[in-house]
Amino acid sequence: MKILLISLLMLNISFASVVEEYLNTLKQEVQKEKADFKGFDKKRGEEIFTSKHIGKKGKEISCTSCHGIDLTKPNQNFFTGKTIEPLSRKTNPERFTKLKTIKKWLRRNFNDVYNREGTALEKGDVLTYILSKE
Ligand code: HEC
Repeated sequence: MKILLISLLMLNISFASVVEEYLNTLKQEVQKEKADFKGFDKKRGEEIFTSKHIGKKGKEISCTSCHGIDLTKPNQNFFTGKTIEPLSRKTNPERFTKLKTIKKWLRRNFNDVYNREGTALEKGDVLTYILSKE
């Protein structure tokens, strides 16, 4: 019983830290170019998440156009009208549990809004912002 409990606990911890591990990887990437890098910043992340840009389809768009500003609530996809479940782990515990999913959508979504893939710094800042809103 004890062993089961301990392994369940460890499982939990490793789930919770997928995104933290990814943030560490991103941090190391930034540090390769900027040795005095202090850390990600949720203020810069907020700007990345909420500012509007002429996106991939020639329309003015921001991350909030699809994810909304209250990350604990679902929102409608700007292009398809489909419901997107909340980004907050508090209301959507499946969020940020799979590294592949996080990477795939960051790549796609940066392209939607910024017409390019985000840098390690931008991805780290925006993730820090999203996680700070929980
Ligand atoms: C055109 C609509 C759209 C825009 C704009 C958009 N997203 Fe998304 N995003 C989605 C969809 C669709 C998914 C995948 C479906 C889902 O996970 O609910 C997703 C998933 C994500 C995920 C995956 C989280 C996880 O692990 O489950 C992250 C992180 C994310 N978006 C961040 C961003 C950021 C940052 C921006 C701005 C640069 C952004 N999104 C802009 C539609 C959008």
